[in-house]
Amino acid sequence: MGPISWRLPSDLKRFKRLTLNHYLIVGRKTYEVLPTLRDRHLVVVSSVPSNILGLRHWIAKSPPDAVALAMTESQVHGCGDVYVGGGAQIYRELWPYATRALITRIDADIEGDIIFPEPENDDSWSWHTLPIAKNKDDEHTTSLDIGVRIV
Ligand SMILES: NC(=O)c1ccc[n+]([C@@H]2O[C@H](COP(=O)([O-])OP(=O)(O)OC[C@H]3O[C@@H](n4cnc5c(N)ncnc54)[C@H](OP(=O)(O)O)[C@@H]3O)[C@@H](O)[C@H]2O)c1
Repeated sequence: MGPISWRLPSDLKRFKRLTLNHYLIVGRKTYEVLPTLRDRHLVVVSSVPSNILGLRHWIAKSPPDAVALAMTESQVHGCGDVYVGGGAQIYRELWPYATRALITRIDADIEGDIIFPEPENDDSWSWHTLPIAKNKDDEHTTSLDIGVRIV
């Protein structure tokens, strides 16, 4: 487990643009390798909330609790969507709650010990793939899979 093993500044910029001033749910392990994310309402999931140090974020004891917390806060304050920022365990547990998905596909074979859990291939999701123009600083070409759950 460690930091992300590719360099894609344009993807990081898109992630920032999308999530800025919104709620972002992450698992404790992702939180521990995450750089400081300014202007995001971070919700960290841990079964041992007292282990999470820091004052600039919320803590939830389960993924569904994190969704409830983020949705309640965003409604009370009248602002902010709720995004899920990983890692694999949190993505897997929160797929059933997701109504939209943005998945960056990287044109490269990259080894790793944490694998993104693909969504189930069911009729409730409609997908569209958007080619992304490669920035000169990007290490690989990418595309963006945009998913909408038809509920
Ligand atoms: N490429 C990307 O876009 C991306 C995005 C995010 C993360 N990552 C990578 O993913 C890796 C981490 O992913 P991961 O799957 O190992 O861990 P993770 O999902 O980030 O965090 C797992 C932790 O979340 C808490 N948790 C999960 N489910 C829970 C539940 N039902 N109840 C209570 N707590 C729960 C637990 O914390 P406690 O152990 O404290 O209870 C668990 O150990 C890192 O290497 C990171 O760099 C990559």
